[in-house]
Amino acid sequence: MGPIKSIYELLSIVEGIEGWLSPCEQIALLHLPSMVDHLSGSIVEIGSYKGKSTTALALGSSLLSTKKRPIYAIDPFVVPPYDFFEENIKKHELGEFVIPIKKHSFEAYDDCPESISAIFIDGDHEYASIKHDIIHYVPRVLVGGLIAFHDYSEYWPGVIKAVNELCKKTEFEFVTIYDNLLFIRKL
Ligand SMILES: C[S@@+](CC[C@H](N)C(=O)[O-])C[C@H]1O[C@@H](n2cnc3c(N)ncnc32)[C@H](O)[C@@H]1O
Repeated sequence: MGPIKSIYELLSIVEGIEGWLSPCEQIALLHLPSMVDHLSGSIVEIGSYKGKSTTALALGSSLLSTKKRPIYAIDPFVVPPYDFFEENIKKHELGEFVIPIKKHSFEAYDDCPESISAIFIDGDHEYASIKHDIIHYVPRVLVGGLIAFHDYSEYWPGVIKAVNELCKKTEFEFVTIYDNLLFIRKL
């Protein structure tokens, strides 16, 4: 057993990577993998940028969860180029916990696992794109699984609209919101 890492140490690793997650949101992503330990299915991220959220999920999966599943990270990795992401993942020795899929979500249906226990959605924030990600990826989430939407805030009305439409359906319930990171459970 390796030496215990405090939550502050994990946070400082994630905090050191450029991106747009508040400390509260980082803690939520660190814990997301362990929140679905009771389910089979993969953990998927749409929108990775330089790997801040991917690192939080991968650290959480490797250190806080029992299943220690890899994170499928879907992003075209064009702007910024893939090197930034790769460097951050390598620097923190998380290579075995990350499976990059270098595509837009609308090109990645066949690369993404069919069965998902948790998905973090932070790609294109326009209404049509969020709607697309919901239509194509949320059906793969298992009953009891979690869907985490970033930027559920007034600055991104398309995110709010698409997510509220999803939550009107009876098979979903709000769990909680960590700053602008909303967790929803599939019933
Ligand atoms: C807000 S950033 C993601 C930030 C990242 N989650 C973090 O914690 O730093 C949005 C990312 O989504 C990616 N993106 C844009 N459209 C996408 C799509 N349709 N599918 C997947 N990724 C997309 C962009 O390349 C960009 O890296």
